[in-house]
Parts: sequence; structure tokens; C-alpha cells
Amino acid sequence: MKVSIALALALALPSCADTELHLPAAAEGAALAQNPAASRSRYNVFACTTCHAVRASEVGTRLLPGAPLEGAARRPTYWGAETVHLHEAVERCWTFFMRGTPTDLDDRTGEALYAWLESLSPDASTAGTQAVVQTFPRTVRPLGEGDATRGQAVWSRACAHCHGALGTGIGRLGPLVTIVPGETEREHCTDTLPPGYTDQTTYVRTVVVEKIRHGSFLGYAGSMPPFSLEALSDDNARDLTALFRCP
Ligand code: HEC
Ligand code: HEC
Repeated sequence: MKVSIALALALALPSCADTELHLPAAAEGAALAQNPAASRSRYNVFACTTCHAVRASEVGTRLLPGAPLEGAARRPTYWGAETVHLHEAVERCWTFFMRGTPTDLDDRTGEALYAWLESLSPDASTAGTQAVVQTFPRTVRPLGEGDATRGQAVWSRACAHCHGALGTGIGRLGPLVTIVPGETEREHCTDTLPPGYTDQTTYVRTVVVEKIRHGSFLGYAGSMPPFSLEALSDDNARDLTALFRCP
């Protein structure tokens, strides 16, 4: 009796797991793409859709650091032509921003995400299959005086969905997201300015431009994404810096 129950279970489980417990891979990928828990790091607060629209038509007035994902599986190059491999493009986001490990993408999670990206790009005639131009400047310079009122509007479109409200951080994605501008001013309005700077406010604003352009790359730690010149113009960046000032 015992034996036959065990056998029945052994026979029933695999088919049950395949047909009922799992969604089709592409649908599972679509759900993972919106879920920060897709990355098993408990410090991650981002989903793919924190930084990417699924379709270009959904961008609206947002200024997002990542390109829309529709058509991405058919693009010839990624990350401003820094790689030709879709896998590498996704792995960068996964490891740098979402704190995952590359091997996570070798299992069901990666399979589902790639099946979903494929489903958004059925063939070369799909919208969005051309390479997206993204320019990431290696060096940055002070941008000059911007306009704080315009800067607040840019903040709402580009920064608030991660950082929350200016000054208080209310609504930010998590405690590791800096409260801006206060925390940045406290850290970088310093008497010991690096060579080339005579004014603290100019220096802190240049730090902000560098953070916007490099995110967690080129010597910067953290998990903030970089904004290319196309994703956020220098005019917008200049207006954002007007929100920062040293005493
Ligand atoms: C914190 C923000 C952020 C998160 C989260 C993120 N990405 Fe990205 N992603 C970027 C940035 C920035 C780039 C570089 C700009 C670009 O090429 O779009 C990029 C590039 C890409 C590209 C290359 C697009 C192209 O045409 O150049 C793909 C594909 C991609 N990401 C997929 C994903 C997927 C899938 C996820 C979720 C597993 C994800 N990203 C999560 C910010 C992010
Ligand atoms: C995808 C989420 C996300 C977006 C969008 C984002 N940030 Fe950040 N930002 C972070 C996180 C997380 C940190 C803290 C970790 C780090 O430094 O990377 C941070 C840190 C910062 C810092 C602190 C740098 C320092 O050294 O004190 C500044 C300044 C900043 N962000 C400005 C901006 C501005 C301006 C925008 C809009 C153009 C923006 N961020 C958009 C996630 C984001």
C-alpha cells in the first residue's frame, strides 16, 4: 500500500510541476521583470521595469536610463555599442544594479527573462530592433548655472521614482537610496577641495553630474544606473545641479 502511494506521487509530481505550477516561460519572465525579488539579493530594490519601459510607447514623460525592451532581442549592439551580446547586456544590469550573480541567469530565471525578451521581438520587423544610441561620457566637467525650478521638474521625471521626494526621500525605494540633496551636500561640501576647484558648490554640483553620467561605473560604487547623454540631456543635468548648494 505504502509503496503504491509513493509511486503514484512520483509519477504525478513531474507532470503537475510542468503543466500547472509553472507559467509558460515568457509569461514568467514578464512577471519577473516587474519584481525586485527576481534577484535573490535582499539589498536589491530594483526591477527591470524600474529603469526600462517595456514598449517605447509606454515611456510617456519619464526619463529612464535604460532603453525600451521591445525589439531588444534583435538589436545588433547594446549599451552604446559596448557589447554585441544580449546576454552580456542583461548580465550587467543584473550584477551591477540588481546585485545578482551571473550564474542566477543560467537557470530558470534567465531562461524566463530571455524567453520574455524574445517574445517582445518576434522578428526583425518588430519596432525597436535598431541599435539605440547611448553615449556615456568618460569625463565630466562643471556645466554652469542651471534653473532650480526646471530642475525640480526634471527630478520628478528622472530621479523621484527611486529617490522619492527631494530633501526628505519620502517614497524612495529603500534605505540604501541616498536622500538628496542633503546627504550629498553633507558628504561633498568640504574644505579640502580637489585640485582645480576653488568653490564648494561648483564641486558638489560636478560630483552630481558625475554621478548622473557614471552611476556605479568609472570609479563610483553603489547601484545607481548611469544616464547617457541621450537619456538625459546636459541641459536637464545642469538644471538638476541647481538643486545642490553648499552653505
Ligand atoms: C537600475 C537600472 C536598471 C535595471 C534595474 C535594469 N537595467 Fe537594463 N539597462 C540599464 C542601463 C542604464 C542600460 C544601458 C543603456 C541602454 O543600453 O539601454 C541598460 C541596458 C540594457 C539592455 C541593452 C539595451 C540596448 O539596446 O542597449 C538590455 C537588453 C537590458 N538592459 C535589459 C534589462 C533587463 C532584462 C533587466 C532586468 C533583469 C534590466 N535591464 C534591469 C539600466 C537598468
Ligand atoms: C534606478 C534608481 C535610481 C535613479 C533613477 C536615480 N538614482 Fe541616484 N542613486 C540611486 C541609489 C541606489 C543611490 C545610492 C547608491 C549609489 O551611490 O549608487 C543613488 C545615489 C545618488 C546620489 C549620491 C551621490 C553621492 O556621492 O552622494 C546622487 C547625487 C544621486 N543619486 C542623484 C540622482 C539624480 C540627480 C537622479 C536623476 C537624474 C538619480 N539619482 C536617479 C538610485 C537611483
